[in-house]
Amino acid sequence: MGYLDDQIVLITAGGGGISRATAKLFAREGARLMLADINGEAAEAAAAEIRAGGGEAHAAVADALVASDCARAVRETVDQYGKLNVLINLVGFFGRGDGGVDKVSLEDWDWMMDINLKSVFLMSKYAIPEMLKGGGGVIVNTGTTAAVMGRAGSPIYGTPKAGVLSLTRAMAADYFRQSIRINAVCPSGTLTRMLTDVLRQRARTRRNWHTNWRCFGRAIRGSRPPRTSPPHTSTWLPTSFRARSPVTS
Ligand SMILES: NC(=O)c1ccc[n+]([C@@H]2O[C@H](COP(=O)([O-])OP(=O)(O)OC[C@H]3O[C@@H](n4cnc5c(N)ncnc54)[C@H](O)[C@@H]3O)[C@@H](O)[C@H]2O)c1
Repeated sequence: MGYLDDQIVLITAGGGGISRATAKLFAREGARLMLADINGEAAEAAAAEIRAGGGEAHAAVADALVASDCARAVRETVDQYGKLNVLINLVGFFGRGDGGVDKVSLEDWDWMMDINLKSVFLMSKYAIPEMLKGGGGVIVNTGTTAAVMGRAGSPIYGTPKAGVLSLTRAMAADYFRQSIRINAVCPSGTLTRMLTDVLRQRARTRRNWHTNWRCFGRAIRGSRPPRTSPPHTSTWLPTSFRARSPVTS
């Protein structure tokens, strides 16, 4: 028996580093998964890995910036499993539009707001009605430590992620009476493809740039997580954010 038995979980960016690690941990606890990603091959590879390990997972191709794709990912989950209990919003991107605000292009600003914030809005918008039909659910959004502290050189990453925290609080206040619990987690540096690519690029293009690779976490380490701890045993701790006392009007 796992503690997520019978839970139907939709994970966005399902082919990516943190998502894949999350999916594997959830599958180990009995969750049945839908992994949605713009990269269908990556999502299918992650799902196949879970199935090979005895879990249950399917892949959906969906761009989290396209409303109809988000609606379809939710619909495919419900068609496949009959319900949706948990949505984990993991689409997000770091590393575009670096430098001070005076150097950031309008195009980069818009794209970073969309990929980090609009994606959470869209997926939640279509997932919540299914959760309401089932009598409740859980949404976990992904912030970052940059959402709660100023970080030089990447002003347009922390900003939409702070918006994710604000959206999380507001959604938690709106839906807690209908038994939908909504929280956000703020991971610190984790060596996934996204972060590795950005750091390598900086090493190539910036003078005197040094990366201490050992200070970053890995998406998964060790085996089964202790149930009372965050779902990993890494060298760092994420900041978890909870809308503990929703404020209602
Ligand atoms: N890696 C870190 O250090 C770190 C730290 C804090 C927060 N985060 C957050 O964690 C989340 C996951 O990051 P990661 O490092 O695992 O990323 P990753 O680069 O390993 O994976 C990203 C995945 O997202 C998919 N994707 C990209 N655009 C998409 C779109 N429009 N629609 C659907 N899927 C799309 C990609 O195909 C890829 O599979 C992000 O929200 C990121 O901001 C990461």
